[in-house]
Amino acid sequence: MKNADYDKYYINEIDYKRPYPGFCIFFINYAPKGKVLDLGCGFGKDSLFLGKLGYSVRSIDISKPGLDLINRLGKKYDMDIDGYLADMFDYPIIEEVDIVLLDDVLELTHKNIVKETLFVKRIADEIKVNGVIALFTKENSGKEKTVKDIFISNDNINWEILLDSYTSDYEDDKTYHMFIVRKK
Ligand SMILES: C[S@@+](CC[C@H](N)C(=O)[O-])C[C@H]1O[C@@H](n2cnc3c(N)ncnc32)[C@H](O)[C@@H]1O
Repeated sequence: MKNADYDKYYINEIDYKRPYPGFCIFFINYAPKGKVLDLGCGFGKDSLFLGKLGYSVRSIDISKPGLDLINRLGKKYDMDIDGYLADMFDYPIIEEVDIVLLDDVLELTHKNIVKETLFVKRIADEIKVNGVIALFTKENSGKEKTVKDIFISNDNINWEILLDSYTSDYEDDKTYHMFIVRKK
């Protein structure tokens, strides 16, 4: 897909980053366009893109300015989107949630790997059958395995891998690992 093709999905009013090309392709093609929980949403580069595609989005962050922007633009463009101030580590995954999105929020450093692994395991336990978890993490050979192992080692639940691939970012040279799974 060429950059120009993405522009029809993009709100040009403000200068926030657009999602990675691999993110766009997956979510444009994914159906049904259900309820997304964007944990650690930042300034809503993903939430607003998904809202424009017709997803229903709840955006969670501990920082308020991004949430204010998301709520303002969501209202202006008549999207089903709701920015909410909360700590994602405590935020429950209720039955209505179809997709949990974690984009660039897991650092998986020595200091926080236990907390973050338990966090993803809780989401994996709580999300309903057929629910999707979409993880985007900066390319780093050790971290990819850590992320995958959370699902492979969780042997009470089976996961269908919808995407295990890489994408570049638009604005810098960073590469992101995309790992998207559905609970069977
Ligand atoms: C690198 S930014 C990524 C933002 C967004 N997901 C994106 O890809 O554009 C990480 C975000 O996680 C948020 N965050 C960090 N700890 C959090 C927590 N405990 N609860 C909710 N949000 C948190 C930060 O405020 C920040 O907005």
